[in-house]
Amino acid sequence: MTDRTPAPAARPHLTSHHQVLDDAVEALHRHWRGRRVFLLANQFTHSAQLLIDEVEACGATLAGIISRTHRPQDVAAPVFSFAEHGIELAPHEFEDHLTQAPKVLRKWLDEHDAGRSCTVLGSIWTTMPRLCGRPVHGWRRHEWAAWEDKVRVEQLWADAAVPSPRHTIVPLDAPGLYTEAARLDGGRGVVLAMDSSRGIPGGGGRGLAWVRSRAELDAAVASFAGRADRVRIAEFVPGVPCSTQALALDTGIAVFDPAEEAMLRHPGTGRFYYAGTSTWWRPPAPERRTIEAYVRRTGELLVSLTGYRGIFTVDGLLTARGFLATEMNPRGAGGLGFRPGRPDFPSYLFHRAAQESVPGVVDLPADAVQAAFRDVIAGRPSFSGALTPGSGPAAPAEPGPAPGTHRYTTPRSRMTIDYRYEGTSARVVELTPTTEDGAVGPAVAEFAHFLGNPGLVGFEDDSVRSTLGPAGKHGSEPTVPAAGGTA
Ligand SMILES: Nc1ncnc2c1ncn2[C@@H]1O[C@H](COP(=O)(O)OP(=O)(O)O)[C@@H](O)[C@H]1O
Ligand SMILES: [Mg+2]
Repeated sequence: MTDRTPAPAARPHLTSHHQVLDDAVEALHRHWRGRRVFLLANQFTHSAQLLIDEVEACGATLAGIISRTHRPQDVAAPVFSFAEHGIELAPHEFEDHLTQAPKVLRKWLDEHDAGRSCTVLGSIWTTMPRLCGRPVHGWRRHEWAAWEDKVRVEQLWADAAVPSPRHTIVPLDAPGLYTEAARLDGGRGVVLAMDSSRGIPGGGGRGLAWVRSRAELDAAVASFAGRADRVRIAEFVPGVPCSTQALALDTGIAVFDPAEEAMLRHPGTGRFYYAGTSTWWRPPAPERRTIEAYVRRTGELLVSLTGYRGIFTVDGLLTARGFLATEMNPRGAGGLGFRPGRPDFPSYLFHRAAQESVPGVVDLPADAVQAAFRDVIAGRPSFSGALTPGSGPAAPAEPGPAPGTHRYTTPRSRMTIDYRYEGTSARVVELTPTTEDGAVGPAVAEFAHFLGNPGLVGFEDDSVRSTLGPAGKHGSEPTVPAAGGTA
């Protein structure tokens, strides 16, 4: 027990002062002051608004928004909307159209930026370096994005000596796929992961399928068809889903504390359901140290292979056998949990500045950045996520999507959750864990039930048995510890 950190509690003290954060803000102001910015908005999300706020706070002005769909409300800046020009685009077609730049768009850009002096900002997914002669700041390099591939990344884990679940990699149409799945099954089924040969499938379980029977395997293969060339078949391993963010700078890798991913599962359908990320979690100190070493080695290798700069994450599971990695996200990702403690800090622009090697940011001392970020995040733990209410008889009549903040206390774990509706989903505003290690997955599953999603379970559920492997092989392995304890 001596190695276990104290149970997390809301710490009312203000986080201590960090010069390195002030230095970063100053460098960002120096970089952005007086610039004019075009924003690319595939979807005009809350994050897009936060990015605009950061741009303006750093002394730049918004010259215009290029929107795939509609005209965002409450925006004073000029807007070019593809939809309003009769060009209806799916999200994945947006960038192609920007690259091709139809005449109407070029004309609009030149009207609002005759001198072609504007800087363009996109999302964390934007991979284009320029827009009609204007530089895109913080675009995603192809060789960086390539490592988001869940099949390819196994080579990185092997080279960085980071353990991952037992697995094999096969073409999607391999005749031996079923035999391999049966061989890897440890009793709880296997997880199929798509490669990125046909584009990155996106996070939140979209590139995964949990398979427990021949029929589910066939269904998963059919649903992956045309979307992947190769698949990774991995043993389903029980454990706490987690994600550790880190930042690659010229001076080294700053590794932040592991966060819990509230990744729920639906044993009925085998689907994963991403509900959010929590920085309340405090795994035992030895595991934290091991994860930190894995993430640092991963980052160092990524940097040596690709010159990577900026935020990346290592996702995986803390299991009874220790941490096992499942994917890397070489990009800024949600759930860092920094904003609640320092809402004034331009963290999106900070990540992009590191990507672009902006002086005063990329050369900050990595150890001081690591200490400051950890301090801010741990000083104000938070949960970032939204759940979509289900429908049907189990959905609650009250509270409905009404304005204001609602409070719900989970019946079993007695966790209090404050939430409000954003569109049709229930965004968690605040929650307070009741477990010793701060894990919230099982309580978030209770919240999902309350919202009308009765089948979902958290990481603690170990009730499902697979029929893939030979009969009699199942059910003898250690189970994941209940909420409140980890491996
Ligand atoms: N082999 C596995 N065994 C058990 N759960 C897994 C396995 N692979 C993935 N998962 C679950 O899926 C979640 C998401 O995995 P991840 O690799 O981060 O992909 P993504 O973020 O694209 O959904 C993990 O947090 C974990 O809950
Ligand atoms: Mg992930």
